[in-house]
Amino acid sequence: MAGVLRGLLSPPPWALERAKYDALAVRLPLAGADRILDVGCGTGRSLVGLARHVPPGSTVIGLDVFDDRIILGNGPALARRNGARAGLAVSPIIGDATALPFATGSIPVVTACRVLHDLERPAVDRTLREIHRVCEPNGTVGVLELPLVPAGVSADPERYWRDRISAAGFRIDVSERIERDGVGPYLVIVATATAESPDG
Ligand SMILES: C[S@@+](CC[C@H](N)C(=O)[O-])C[C@H]1O[C@@H](n2cnc3c(N)ncnc32)[C@H](O)[C@@H]1O
Repeated sequence: MAGVLRGLLSPPPWALERAKYDALAVRLPLAGADRILDVGCGTGRSLVGLARHVPPGSTVIGLDVFDDRIILGNGPALARRNGARAGLAVSPIIGDATALPFATGSIPVVTACRVLHDLERPAVDRTLREIHRVCEPNGTVGVLELPLVPAGVSADPERYWRDRISAAGFRIDVSERIERDGVGPYLVIVATATAESPDG
């Protein structure tokens, strides 16, 4: 019983689920990144997925509201622990994606995996503008998304996410579908922060 409970509170490092994160990671300029921010890291699944591609010595920050009402055990301790099990020293920060607590132009690579579709429409744009703000000049955002759009939006998901990311001041470098057997694809979008400030 104790083992089952421990398993629920401390899920394994998701070895079988890494393919989609690998697909994102290999398209990111991680080799030269001394600071990586994963927005909406949750219990650390995306950080575990990215871990093998993160260069030694990089500072890895996982930001999340860490709401544990929907995801069991969602909290900084679990993000840190799961990161450590994958060999990553994660610094978890409690925060809102729409108001990132980081200096402007301070982070070379920001990832947002399976989080944007959970946000309301205005929050999607605020989050992407915040990611653009904290990105270094020519910094990179990597988005991994399900083919879903926020509530109230009717648009093709791939086009929707590309448009929102572009509107936030990024140039799209990669937009690919990662097919999965029997279920919908994942979308991988990698984009570079341009010098232009986004509108609004
Ligand atoms: C489906 S989980 C994805 C977790 C992880 N990135 C992954 O790939 O498995 C979505 C995460 O986004 C977080 N989240 C939702 N709204 C947020 C917000 N406004 N700011 C920061 N994190 C948020 C949730 O708490 C949750 O941990």
